[in-house]
Parts: sequence; structure tokens; C-alpha cells
Amino acid sequence: MTITTLSSVEDLNIAAAELFIKAVRLNPKIVLGFSTGNSPKGIYQLLIQDHLRNKTSYKSVTTFNLDEYEGLDGSSEQSYRYFMDTHLFDHLDIDKSNTHVPSGLGDLEAGSRIYDEMIEKAGGIDLQLIGIGTNGHIAFNEPGTPFNSRTHIANLTEETIEANYKDFLSKDGIPKRAVTMGIQSIMEAKQLVMVAFGKNKAGAIKKMIEGPIHTDMPASILQKHPNVTIFLDQEAASLLKK
Ligand code: GLP
Repeated sequence: MTITTLSSVEDLNIAAAELFIKAVRLNPKIVLGFSTGNSPKGIYQLLIQDHLRNKTSYKSVTTFNLDEYEGLDGSSEQSYRYFMDTHLFDHLDIDKSNTHVPSGLGDLEAGSRIYDEMIEKAGGIDLQLIGIGTNGHIAFNEPGTPFNSRTHIANLTEETIEANYKDFLSKDGIPKRAVTMGIQSIMEAKQLVMVAFGKNKAGAIKKMIEGPIHTDMPASILQKHPNVTIFLDQEAASLLKK
């Protein structure tokens, strides 16, 4: 694990965005993994800015997103497909048909198998961006999810519903299930980049880095990944041993 603590969220966004931009420039046919939530928003803005200013091209890039809520299609503003389109894809020269977000509609089991096959067919994910939930979840792999899981249906925990429901009209409005890439699927990415900032992530970050590797703390499995870079701000890093 390479852990870098930056003095501000801006610096963290710049460091993570640079890593992605360099990778795309080096390999224009790269397969990228993207995440949603608050954490990647600043990075996506920088990727767009760089694309406009420096013409970094995403024409031949393929992407896979981590997860999607059950029952939402891409026209729903709360869907992760909508998030990705509006926060990133609509502003790049990427071919939308090469951008993949798990489907939250139809036969979710079958859709999950197809998603795994598509990742495999693309040759696996070269560089995957991830965030972390306050309970240590990665994507929607909640505590207790087996480390060997692949894309599957996940039941969201109370803590995750509490953290995420503000995007919805009410707590009743947030779907209670999602389709998520599994922990094994994430671990198979050749390189992982995690970004986390803010005090509310400090406890999970400490357990992820210093705690035992256990399914109670899904992110702790990252300790075993051969190429993971973690960008933190001071607050998220505040509980780590000096
Ligand atoms: C959600 C997503 C995760 C994300 C996490 C943290 O539950 N499924 O992929 O990493 O929340 O989100 P945020 O960055 O908004 O704190």
C-alpha cells in the first residue's frame, strides 16, 4: 500500500487526477474503473479540465463502474449511470457504448454474470478508482461480504442508507438493494486508487490500513493488493499511527 496524505482535498484531487491522466496518455486503450459518490467528483472535474485544455483523449478508453441501485434506470437523477454521464462522460470524447455501469433493472442475477463476463472480455480493469464507506464498504460490498465475491446483489446496511439517502427525496425513497462489483472483482484490477477525505472516514481508514484483514471491514482486503495507492487528506488520516 502506498499511502499519501495531502494537505487539502484540492491537492488530493490533483494527485489522483494526474495518476489517471498519465495512465490514459500512456495507454489510450486503457480499461478504467470508476466510482461514484462525493469523493471522486473533484477528480472528474480535473479530468474534464485536462481533456479540454490538453486534449487527453478517451476515444478508445473502456470503463466499468462499481455499482448501481436496484430499480433505477439511467434517466433517474439518483442513478449512478446518470451521475457518471453528467459528472464525467458527457464532457469527454469517450464512446458511451464503451462505458459500463451495472444494470439495476431486469434480472439482476443474470445481469451480474454478464457484467463479470464483460469485464473479463475487456481484459480486466487496469486502473480502478474506489472510495470507502464509513463502515469500510468498498463499492456496495458491505461488512460480511465474502472476499471471493463477484458482481452480485447487495443489501444496503442502515449505515449506508443513512449516509446515502440525502440524494433521494426521503429515507423511504432510497433503494435498499444494489448491484455491485464484488470484492474479488475489485481485487483483480491491476491497480487500485482509493481516495478518502473528511473526519467521518478516519475510523474506517485506520481499520483498513492498521487493522486485521477481516470481512467485517471489507476494505481491509486492500492490504493484500500488490498495487494500491491511497490518497487521504489530513482529516481522513488523523487516526493513523504516526
Ligand atoms: C457509496 C458507493 C461507494 C462509495 C461510498 C462513499 O455507498 N457505493 O462506491 O465509495 O458510498 O461515498 P462518498 O464518496 O460519497 O463518501
